[in-house]
Amino acid sequence: MISRPPLSESGFASETPHDRRGRPLHDLRISVMDRCNFRCPYCMPETTYGEHFAFLGADERLSFDEIERLSRLAVSLGVSKLRLTGGEPLLRPHLADLVSRLRRLEGVDDLAITTNGVLLARYAKELREAGLDRVTVSLDTLDPALFHRMSGHRGGLEEVLAGIEAAQAVSFPKGVKLNAVIQRGVNEHTVLDLVERFRGTGIVVRFIEYMDVGNRNDWAPDAVVPVRELIGLISARWPLEAVAPQYPGEVAARYRFRDGGGEVGMIASISHPFCGGCSRARLSSDGTLYTCLFATKGTDLRTPLREGASDEALRERLRDIWLGRADRYSEERASRRQDSPRKIEMHYIGG
Ligand code: GTP
Ligand code: 5AD
Ligand code: SF4
Ligand code: SF4
Repeated sequence: MISRPPLSESGFASETPHDRRGRPLHDLRISVMDRCNFRCPYCMPETTYGEHFAFLGADERLSFDEIERLSRLAVSLGVSKLRLTGGEPLLRPHLADLVSRLRRLEGVDDLAITTNGVLLARYAKELREAGLDRVTVSLDTLDPALFHRMSGHRGGLEEVLAGIEAAQAVSFPKGVKLNAVIQRGVNEHTVLDLVERFRGTGIVVRFIEYMDVGNRNDWAPDAVVPVRELIGLISARWPLEAVAPQYPGEVAARYRFRDGGGEVGMIASISHPFCGGCSRARLSSDGTLYTCLFATKGTDLRTPLREGASDEALRERLRDIWLGRADRYSEERASRRQDSPRKIEMHYIGG
């Protein structure tokens, strides 16, 4: 007798596709909004994203029905981790409604959001009630003037800190993390302040090497502070020891304070690329699916969605995209002769 793979909630056989390098599809990062209320120079520099920049119109963005449908199909293919991103996801009206819809999908065991935190104090409670598991807040420095500058003169540090506090107060089941992008000569001198402030609070700060995402941030290798250096710096003050990853292919390498003060994470996307375990697909706010953060092209799913494609057809398309994938941009970076001028921008795919 031929044994059949088990059927998922949606009635589809639940076989996880593996790409051409043997990596399973595990995470879907969903950008729900291409706009942002910040203008971080490394992501949306004011010179490009000024008043006249043409963002997507509301009808160009995927609707909640469309996002929920694609998520359900992705989950039927083995995705169990969903992360909502932007631009700034909290600018999307009624985001908590989307969270509660995604929460109801059977098979999602991790539902997270990455936000700049400015609107978090306002929305933390409803997001928690809608079933969000955890929150990651981007926070590059605790120096108010530098923070203001790094947000493109838009953000107030106090609002972000209030957002982090609100998120802690509502007790997200899987907690709160912070992301700090460190740039040479910009905020590297404020690293220890960040560590000191959040050590012992249960909040994990993750330090990220500045990456060459998109085409608009004038990235240069000498602006990167290798995490090795940060580990040395932090360890000299509060000794650290490495901790095993929580799951295979984890983006951040984990380090624990020997004195019990909790953990920090190190995202070494430049110095130690982690493409080998990369199981992430990215859906942009206009419904294009990308299989790498540095992709130059993606697959339009909005057109078939709006032209009445069946679940089977959409699911096959998702599956085929993953099966055909061979991306390993960060591992190839050093040997690349020339940078492509047409990489997708960060605010379309949310990192
Ligand atoms: P956890 O689920 O908490 O481990 O979060 P995450 O690291 O998947 O997500 P988050 O949005 O917090 O991303 C942290 C940083 O890692 C951001 O700067 C992302 O752009 C970067 N990052 C996440 N996934 C990838 C990836 O696949 N490739 C590269 N190069 N960077 C990534
Ligand atoms: N390099 C590294 N991280 C970046 N982020 C945005 N742009 C870059 C970049 N060029 C971070 C944001 C956010 C996360 C999703 O990606 O700060 O925390
Ligand atoms: Fe800054 Fe994030 Fe907004 Fe980009 S999306 S401008 S990194 S807050
Ligand atoms: Fe994945 Fe591309 Fe990042 Fe490598 S560079 S980890 S393939 S998203």
